[in-house]
Amino acid sequence: MNTTRIVLEILYNNKGNFVSSEYLCSKTKVSRIAIWQHIKKLQKLGYIIEAKRGVGYKLTQNPHDLLNIYEVEKLKQSTTVKNIFFFENTTSTMDEAKKILENNKDLADRTLIVALNQTQGRGRKNRHWLSFGDNIYVSYIYLPKNLSPQDGLLIMFASCIAIVLALKQIGIGAKIKWPNDCLVNDKKIAGVLVDAKSDISSIEEIVIGFGVNVNWQNIPEEINATSVYEVTKKTTDRLFILGKIVQYLEALIKLIENKQKSNIIKLWRLYDTTLNRKVEIISDSKKIIGWASDIDEYGFLLLETQNGVQKIITSDSVRFL
Ligand code: BTN
Repeated sequence: MNTTRIVLEILYNNKGNFVSSEYLCSKTKVSRIAIWQHIKKLQKLGYIIEAKRGVGYKLTQNPHDLLNIYEVEKLKQSTTVKNIFFFENTTSTMDEAKKILENNKDLADRTLIVALNQTQGRGRKNRHWLSFGDNIYVSYIYLPKNLSPQDGLLIMFASCIAIVLALKQIGIGAKIKWPNDCLVNDKKIAGVLVDAKSDISSIEEIVIGFGVNVNWQNIPEEINATSVYEVTKKTTDRLFILGKIVQYLEALIKLIENKQKSNIIKLWRLYDTTLNRKVEIISDSKKIIGWASDIDEYGFLLLETQNGVQKIITSDSVRFL
């Protein structure tokens, strides 16, 4: 185990009490000076550690919303996540996921990639995803055993439901806009991007990317977005939300794998805000106005157009009118 992690663990186990340098040195087999360097590193990460000459070090109350590799690693205890990668900065967690799958696919299953900032965060249809606030930017790699290529949209639904359920735990009532948005008062609070690789009969690999606006303050008016902070007016612990999302996501994917897809559709209907609304469907080439009347068993959107024709919308974007 890495020395900083050992020091942190010892301080955590003795939270509120001083731990002597000698004790830390004996447990880590490094010098006092080295211990001091590790303490400085932890302080830089945001831990509040008191140092007293001749006495030692004391970890006091954690500041709110600590997100770093040591904290994210804790998710392994409450989820089935096997590997965690943490980046202070990256182009996109989707790029990191792609590299992991290319280099080490056998070990990639249930890998969580977390970033604090992304320089080229992206959304569906290659739209740009602003990635600099104190938000959640994550990709989750899953190598399914029992999913068919038609299940892609249901995975997207499961991811949106997982986010909505996680937000519900902190008192936020979010809704889902087909196919990949989570909204509060019709403003976007989270988005999901699913990259799936399939052969003819099954999905081989899935990367679920999600961005959740958590502690983003002063969101420009022209962006139709909101955040947990804007709704609650307080800073929220991202790790708590992330842990809940992953737990729900894992349970919901299991439902799809166990052929209980109708339960995903039921949950989706419970939190949906798309149906029975007048919408504009935006595709690359054209725009169609109509009434979002229902979804089918695969999750495709059924649209009643103005001249009474029913269309099946498989992958375009929806705008509320
Ligand atoms: C959308 O609303 O179109 C989907 C947005 C998905 C954004 C997340 S942030 C983490 C992951 N990395 C990316 O570049 N995109 C997804």
